[in-house]
Amino acid sequence: MSESTTASGPETIQETFLKRISALEIENENLAEELETTKVEREEVRAKLFESLIANKKYLREVERLKKENAMLRRMPLFLATIVEVGEDYVLLRQHGNNQEFITTVPLELIDKLQPNTRVAINNSLTIVRILDRSLDARAKIMVLIEAPDVAYDQIGGLDNQIQEIKETVELPLTKPEIFREIGIEPPRGVLLFGLPGTGKTLLAKAVAHESKATFIHMSGSELVHKFIGEGAQLVRDIFQMARDKAPSIIFIDEIDAVGSIRTHDGTTGSAEVNRTMMQLLAEMDGFRSRGDVRIIAATNRIDILDPALLRPGRFDRIIEISMPTVEARHKILLIHASNMKRLNVDFLEIAKQTEGASGADLKAIVVEAGMNALRRNANAADALDFDKAIKKVLGFDEESSEDSFRMFS
Ligand SMILES: Nc1ncnc2c1ncn2[C@@H]1O[C@H](COP(=O)(O)OP(=O)(O)O)[C@@H](O)[C@H]1O
Ligand SMILES: [Mg+2]
Repeated sequence: MSESTTASGPETIQETFLKRISALEIENENLAEELETTKVEREEVRAKLFESLIANKKYLREVERLKKENAMLRRMPLFLATIVEVGEDYVLLRQHGNNQEFITTVPLELIDKLQPNTRVAINNSLTIVRILDRSLDARAKIMVLIEAPDVAYDQIGGLDNQIQEIKETVELPLTKPEIFREIGIEPPRGVLLFGLPGTGKTLLAKAVAHESKATFIHMSGSELVHKFIGEGAQLVRDIFQMARDKAPSIIFIDEIDAVGSIRTHDGTTGSAEVNRTMMQLLAEMDGFRSRGDVRIIAATNRIDILDPALLRPGRFDRIIEISMPTVEARHKILLIHASNMKRLNVDFLEIAKQTEGASGADLKAIVVEAGMNALRRNANAADALDFDKAIKKVLGFDEESSEDSFRMFS
């Protein structure tokens, strides 16, 4: 065996080499195959990567689009609505402006914070976007002017009886509510001032607020109706709430005829809206029983068109006429407005006599205009001629013309 093994030795070496070669060749082939597979795999991976890149690009575009949409949604106007009713997982809302009611679903974490009368901002698809804080509500701030006016009674010319009456009905209940409690009578709740424009109704209301150190909440009936369409009733509610919060206070409703006119009962939607505001006003006034710390003063130039419901006892229990100034009152008013004015040879009593039919506002304008005339001619004091010209300009009449022609301007 060993012989044959050794005998086949040299051949075996050759054979061995051949075997190695063929083995190496096979290995080479395998490697080549493997390389091929790897190449294919690499191509596949590359294709996949490419696909991913494309997909990525698509997603990036989508992200971009969503960002834009989000920004647009944020920029989209939100609408105001008030919660009417809160259900288990829905709320009933009333949209301001058109007064339409609708139901919307609300996420559970929000629904706990909602209650009737909460104000919310909703978007186009009627989803609640945010809850509005009462103090955030800008409308009431636009609507009313809260102030402590600095007009004193002595800056009002004439109107002595009216001042006396308003002292009893508005000032006294605010400053000495105990007097009314002691005697056991309810102070009047509301006072209605009526009279021609410029006669001092606003002035009087401001003066009483000043003298009684009360917050003065000034709202205008025409703004309530024209500027805050659909929100009038809610605003009335807010204003009375504000008055209670800031008591002692006086709510002054200027131009109340805009809300409380008989002409508003014509059955149109506009008038239905005004009526709602008016009903809310009446409800708030009726809810004021035995409250000494909030008073209501209303003013109108048109008492003839006021709804009789407003004039019923318990609402405006005092109706005070603010008359056009008499000659004595005109004299006082002129002196009040000219108190800081330098003047030469001006007889205000004479001017008062010449200005029959002029309102307090006209007289103030005359004084200002006379001052302007003096300025124009570089004088440091106004004289009789400056006043003459001012009267003609403000009242728009020549001295010789009839009374009727200047009544139009007063
Ligand atoms: N009786 C008056 N005494 C002094 N000034 C007056 C009087 N009436 C009117 N005025 C002047 O005219 C301005 C406008 O009057 P206002 O009170 O607004 O009139 P009304 O509210 O009745 O239309 C007042 O700010 C005031 O300067
Ligand atoms: Mg006024």
